Amino acid sequence: MSTNIIYCYSGSGHCLDMAKSIARELGDTDIVMMRSFPAKTDAREAKRVGFVFSCMAGGLPGKMEEYVKAIQVSPDAYTFAVEQYAGYLGCGLRKINDIVPLDYWTGVSNHSTAIWLMPHILTFPPTTPKMAQKRVDHKARTVAKAVLAGKRTGKNPPKANLFELMSNGLGKTNSKRVKKFAANDSCIGCGTCEKVCPQKNIRLENGKPVFGTDCIGCLSCVQLCPKQAINIGKITEKRERFPNRKVQARELTEQIIHID
Ligand SMILES: Cc1cc2nc3c(=O)[nH]c(=O)nc-3n(C[C@H](O)[C@H](O)[C@H](O)COP(=O)(O)O)c2cc1C
Repeated sequence: MSTNIIYCYSGSGHCLDMAKSIARELGDTDIVMMRSFPAKTDAREAKRVGFVFSCMAGGLPGKMEEYVKAIQVSPDAYTFAVEQYAGYLGCGLRKINDIVPLDYWTGVSNHSTAIWLMPHILTFPPTTPKMAQKRVDHKARTVAKAVLAGKRTGKNPPKANLFELMSNGLGKTNSKRVKKFAANDSCIGCGTCEKVCPQKNIRLENGKPVFGTDCIGCLSCVQLCPKQAINIGKITEKRERFPNRKVQARELTEQIIHID
């Protein structure tokens, strides 16, 4: 068993990149992916247990809340969480804290990967993608230092009732949006979308992706398609993608990534 475990949800690689940066500073860390049910839920032997995840629709992404409930953490473990968001923190940290009380928690703003809603650069405060990456890298170092020092935040994350309502409504909007996913003629049938879909909701038929209805809206397929061929209706056609350039699509499909 590794000394540290970081549970990570990442749609387009930004949180995985951050989890890896934190893990490199901590040493001997298993990053357990939470895009689907985590491969390791018994974390009772870990000295430090962390969560690195993105804000989705004001709350926790996909089925992450359900997965966190399945995790067993030693009462003696040091616990921490970092949330990435574009514009606001939402209620994700609070939801985790209600299940696994957190010693230390914090958030960092990155650009938006929710490009059907807004172009990725329209975030507050405004930054370039390069500056945003620098800010996230800096935050990762700050978090690792805090975790190694056993720092405590000393208060609960915000309750954010409004965001709780918003995140509970995501299912409905998703089922409408999911009908609009389609690949255009730039598609080369490489199968990246099929591989990165955490729900196994995409299958290739005659070399083209066919989208089912079991979508959590992570946008991994839209963001990671090497030809930018997947769109949600017309709105994303002209919008730039924003996957993390330091993370490969293949890494997102792994269940556990060990960092020495
Ligand atoms: C479907 C979806 C919904 C999102 N909802 C929010 C949101 O409500 N508030 C926010 O500030 N950022 C939101 N974001 C932005 C992400 O939290 C942010 O871009 C994050 O850095 C993505 O990290 P990842 O690539 O590791 O998933 C959303 C992104 C996606 C894909």
